[in-house]
Amino acid sequence: MILIIGASGQLGDSLAKLCTAQGLDHVALARPAVDLAQPETLAAALTATKPTFVINAAAYTAVDNAESDEAAAMAGNHTGPKALAQLCAAANAVLIHVSTDYVFDGNKGAPYLETDATGPTGVYGRTKRDGETAILATPAKAVILRTAWVYSAHGKNFARTMLTAGRKLPHLRVVADQRGTPTAAADLAAAILAIIARIRETGWRAEYRGIFHATNQGETTWHGFAAAIFEEAAKQGYQPPHIEPITTADWPTPTRRPPDSRLDCSKLRQIFGVQLPPWRASLPTIVGALLQA
Ligand SMILES: NC(=O)c1ccc[n+]([C@@H]2O[C@H](COP(=O)([O-])OP(=O)(O)OC[C@H]3O[C@@H](n4cnc5c(N)ncnc54)[C@H](OP(=O)(O)O)[C@@H]3O)[C@@H](O)[C@H]2O)c1
Repeated sequence: MILIIGASGQLGDSLAKLCTAQGLDHVALARPAVDLAQPETLAAALTATKPTFVINAAAYTAVDNAESDEAAAMAGNHTGPKALAQLCAAANAVLIHVSTDYVFDGNKGAPYLETDATGPTGVYGRTKRDGETAILATPAKAVILRTAWVYSAHGKNFARTMLTAGRKLPHLRVVADQRGTPTAAADLAAAILAIIARIRETGWRAEYRGIFHATNQGETTWHGFAAAIFEEAAKQGYQPPHIEPITTADWPTPTRRPPDSRLDCSKLRQIFGVQLPPWRASLPTIVGALLQA
């Protein structure tokens, strides 16, 4: 039994759909049934479902809002996941938890390894980093996947924002000096289910515990991502706007974003034999679904 927490989010939605498609025994729950700010709801869900795997796809993800809403960010990203890890340890369930590239400051100038020092630049990144540390301080069988730039046809994300704005405005300005890797929620969901399949096949191993980087392959900038989104959309009859490359300084935000948050995902491949596809592979399908919505 796989218990998915955060079923209403991009990743949670993809996980639930994929579990259904693969015929996997699962339960997908969202708030208020499971609320990371109310650990008693987590305990009740574990008691009711008796999972062997718990996937935490829930998090406080509003990066800028977190600056003025630290208590909620801490509950969603740190203390809630810690409580969940303690419950998983007590129930002997494997916890698959998701974290972020924003645990890094983005100044390395090369793809980050799991062993690199963290240096979050805001409350969101700090609470996510503290959640990782707290989970690994419990005895839980925990696999923590740091991902980045998640998008899908479901929920709020950069691709949806671009396509909506591009319908209204002939000219968009998009930041061209932040590097990273767009990651399709469906590709990350498939990677998580492949990890679960591997653990089921081999049994739990000590090397599975810890942090793994898990993004699609390749890299781009937000401007490059926007250009690719509009290129795919144009193939599907959409009239693309002009997109002007701008700098981070031209687009100030409450939280400073890491300028280069590329993640080296080779550990995931070495330990679990799992590799996500190149970042453009899922783009046509997601853009198509967004255009139809
Ligand atoms: N989105 C990105 O670009 C990105 C980048 C790097 C890493 N990540 C990480 O990837 C994971 C999945 O992200 P996503 O993009 O799928 O997120 P998302 O679409 O924003 O969904 C977040 C989910 O978390 C739920 N949630 C928020 N606070 C909660 C709480 N206190 N208790 C229970 N559920 C709560 C939300 O529920 P409601 O519907 O009730 O609000 C929603 O279902 C997260 O761990 C995130 O930090 C995301």
